[in-house]
Amino acid sequence: MLRAVITIWILSVLMVQPLLASPRVPGTPNVDSLPAIIPAPAMLKTGQGHFNLRTVGSIVVKDSAHAAIAKLLAESLGQISGKVIPVKQKMDKGNNIVFRLSTTDSSLRTEGYRLTVTPSKITIEAQQPAGWFYAVQTLLQMLPTRSTAREPLLIAAVTIQDSPRFGWRGLMLDVSRHFFSKEVIMNYLDQMAKYKFNVFHWHLTDNQGWRIEIRSMPNLTRTGAWRVPRTGYWRGFQAPQPGEEATDGGSYSQEDVKEILAYAAARFITVVPEIDVPGHSLAMIASYPELSCTKTPQQVLAGDPWNTSRTNVLCVGNDSTYAALDKIFGELAALFPSSYIHIGGDEVTRMFWEKCPVCQDRIKKENLKSSSELQTYFINRLARIIESKGKLPMTWYDKLEGGLVPGVAYMSWKDHKGGMLASQNGHKAVMTPAFYTYLDFYQNDPVFENGPFTVTRLNACYAFEPIAEGVKEENVLGGQGSLWTEQVPNERKLQYMTWPRAFALAEALWSPKEKKNWDDFVNRMEKHFPRLDDAKVKYATGSYEPIVSAKKNADSSFNIIISTEIKGLDVFYTFDDTIVDEFYPKYNGRPLTIPKGAHHIRARSYRNGQPLGREINLELADLIKRAAR
Ligand code: ACM
Ligand code: ZN
Repeated sequence: MLRAVITIWILSVLMVQPLLASPRVPGTPNVDSLPAIIPAPAMLKTGQGHFNLRTVGSIVVKDSAHAAIAKLLAESLGQISGKVIPVKQKMDKGNNIVFRLSTTDSSLRTEGYRLTVTPSKITIEAQQPAGWFYAVQTLLQMLPTRSTAREPLLIAAVTIQDSPRFGWRGLMLDVSRHFFSKEVIMNYLDQMAKYKFNVFHWHLTDNQGWRIEIRSMPNLTRTGAWRVPRTGYWRGFQAPQPGEEATDGGSYSQEDVKEILAYAAARFITVVPEIDVPGHSLAMIASYPELSCTKTPQQVLAGDPWNTSRTNVLCVGNDSTYAALDKIFGELAALFPSSYIHIGGDEVTRMFWEKCPVCQDRIKKENLKSSSELQTYFINRLARIIESKGKLPMTWYDKLEGGLVPGVAYMSWKDHKGGMLASQNGHKAVMTPAFYTYLDFYQNDPVFENGPFTVTRLNACYAFEPIAEGVKEENVLGGQGSLWTEQVPNERKLQYMTWPRAFALAEALWSPKEKKNWDDFVNRMEKHFPRLDDAKVKYATGSYEPIVSAKKNADSSFNIIISTEIKGLDVFYTFDDTIVDEFYPKYNGRPLTIPKGAHHIRARSYRNGQPLGREINLELADLIKRAAR
């Protein structure tokens, strides 16, 4: 992720205006009377009365092989109600919560479930345990996260019949640019599961760190997992200095990985590992310089600008490179149950191959026309290695002269085009077009983050449609949000970049397309903020905050326009550089004239007299520069 940013920057600056929200259909029920479930279920019908959790008897699960999900529910309900609810195999006299597997009920689709709440019983039906798990997540969203002993705990009578639109509902996390501990990963998985994500794409290696123990190549973590420490805005860090110790980093042992995999499996999340080759490989080359064309010693990148004096590409002409990859992917395939293994394949600087006699020799021997075709050769050869381990290869889509490689699934990241081409040609595709799904992009104005970057607002995530025109739906596995972590140094920032945008992505990937309704989503999202607070998960409030832009007039003067993503907010503003509150002028939708001498505008959103989100404070000269771009 880097080059695409420039193109996407231009697009995203244009996108900061809110999308048109779908109008509420007259006669639809007031959403406040419905449970606020994210992602929105396919079908929800309210019933009469409610189930009182205070009177619950037992959780009943006949099939003891799947009792773990029932126990998970018992544990969660116990935390909410303070009461221990027994899990039994036989019906009790009281008001029970009953799990049923119905393999013959064709209305219960893959991963789907039916949740029926009546005043005397809760029934959870599914074809597979995954469906039970998702029903439990839905049920828990219908309850508060905790209660006092005297509070009633009522679950409104309801029938929910639900199943996902896509089988791949992912979040990707880059643990190379910054390392995140096993505990952080587990917290992330926990939060993902609540919103029915089922794929954790783990970007384990890059120029800035190798994060997974490979027993046959110990230098990968001994050397490759460590870089010199740097703090602050990522781009422009100082390169490693002579003699400076590499103290920042870390890695997962294979035992750590097994623990994480078990944790994920219990939450019905498949972990797809990624080793990014042949580019983005500086950490690997720092560990084993002989794998590069130059064979010169290298240091792990510290977040200093990568430049062509340092090679980060593997020598793909050399058979020993493939022998090393065979070992690495062999260990990976033995560890990870996922059917897919991601091999990276993006943003390869091929200039080293052009100067390398071994790579040039390979081009000749294989009758290749260019170094771009050599890249295709590499992907092809590695894909066969992956298959030899009983796995399916997946890569990022980058346009190559050699074309698509047989048997490879493509991840479409710059936009939808790669996925379009791949799916039309019979390849499986996962959609993560940066403009809609890159979670490293800012959530609102870059002024909040002290550095320029692209913006992907919440409403852009909500507008994510994996099946864009021209995409062959039957070959699309689904989509994901992708979080690169150059500017994500700790868990709080990780959470902040993910939520609430991942709510929007969860809905794009799970809920039926025709159910999409921005206003309704916002209403439900706001009810989930206290749940995130309770779980001590940080989230962004950017969707409340004023969007301020300058507009050029025919006479070359500029006006200021203010909008918000969320409707119905009052925005107060000032040009006098004082701290704005609700006693300041209220923006009335009309362009503002810039007072003479003003150098900043500040604005803040309110609802019912309460401030929401942060005050924005923008330099007018900067706004005018943006408008002129
Ligand atoms: C990517 O963002 N380079 C996949
Ligand atoms: Zn070479």
